[in-house]
Amino acid sequence: MKIFITGIAGFIGFHLANFLLKNEFAVIGLDNLNDYYDPSLKHARLSELKLTSKESKRDFIFIKGNLEDYALLSKIFSDYNPDIVINLAAQAGVRYSLENPKAYLDSNIIGFSNIVECCKIHKIDHLIFASSSSVYGGNTKLPFSESQTVDHPISLYAATKKANELIAHTYSHLYDLKTTGLRFFTVYGPWGRPDMALFKFTKSILNDEHIDVYNNGDMIRDFTYIDDIVKSIFLLLNKKPEFNRNYDKDNPNPSSSWAPYKIFNIGNSDPQPLMDYIKSLEYSLNKKAKINFLPMQPGDVKATYANTDLLQEWIGFKPKTTIKYGINEFIKWYKNFYKTNN
Ligand SMILES: NC(=O)c1ccc[n+]([C@@H]2O[C@H](COP(=O)([O-])OP(=O)(O)OC[C@H]3O[C@@H](n4cnc5c(N)ncnc54)[C@H](O)[C@@H]3O)[C@@H](O)[C@H]2O)c1
Repeated sequence: MKIFITGIAGFIGFHLANFLLKNEFAVIGLDNLNDYYDPSLKHARLSELKLTSKESKRDFIFIKGNLEDYALLSKIFSDYNPDIVINLAAQAGVRYSLENPKAYLDSNIIGFSNIVECCKIHKIDHLIFASSSSVYGGNTKLPFSESQTVDHPISLYAATKKANELIAHTYSHLYDLKTTGLRFFTVYGPWGRPDMALFKFTKSILNDEHIDVYNNGDMIRDFTYIDDIVKSIFLLLNKKPEFNRNYDKDNPNPSSSWAPYKIFNIGNSDPQPLMDYIKSLEYSLNKKAKINFLPMQPGDVKATYANTDLLQEWIGFKPKTTIKYGINEFIKWYKNFYKTNN
């Protein structure tokens, strides 16, 4: 089976492709290798993928390019004829959406629209795409469940992810395109993103620098380990949503649809106070953090917590890796990759 992954040089795309190549899939990947964070990490991930493909003798094709380039996307779909498309390429990050809104409109709106259009034209079996826990926006009822309405985003990033869900649903309804959207909850692990807390905290603590902790540390996050995300996506590949004639349109439940469209939370369902997460990190590094307490950042939410019952029901699996294990795995990778002995 041929899988086309966008954002393949990114954190999640890399892990997913690595897993699929080891498990007898052929992988085609697209990424523009942008410099939102250090592109050398993206190049290193691609080198790793080339090694895996050599060892597993599975085809791996990488194309450097933009989701916004419709002609390029069309050519990729025609040339390689993928069975399943997994759209992970996006401008990520809540805070950066206040500084550079255009990047979000280009990648997440124009780029995503190009992907669904190509999936329609080329009659792709299943489109799986990344949404985000950010769509829960101003909601405060925890845990977040897919049956809640998500009409109150508080960042442009969240608004673009919600727009992706709406566009996907429309294509599912109009063209019978089978789409599955995944609301990821703070993903972490080896090869993780340098703009995210675990990476920034680790780097600063090892360099004896202060870490910035927002809302004076009064935040709760459902941290989700990368291997659980990969396993969930793997199990979803062949679970294609189907048309549901029993859907009650008089009482529309946001968690499902008549159209072949599904939406799932993918989180650990084990929210951690941010200060406890920092304590676990200090313990693993055997070093105290110097903390710079700061007020809440605009666009950030105070708490995330995933209800994953729908996912469990659909694929018989839900994330469960402990933060103790996950943080240790991250630190092992970080120290080895950056050759630090601290
Ligand atoms: N990591 C998380 O905690 C998290 C949480 C919620 C949602 N998500 C979503 O999951 C997806 C993957 O996230 P990630 O953590 O791997 O992010 P990432 O930034 O590491 O990966 C995204 C990749 O997409 C590429 N890209 C961005 N815009 C592009 C474009 N227009 N054309 C081609 N390539 C482009 C980037 O170069 C990058 O390599 C994203 O859609 C993100 O919004 C991630």
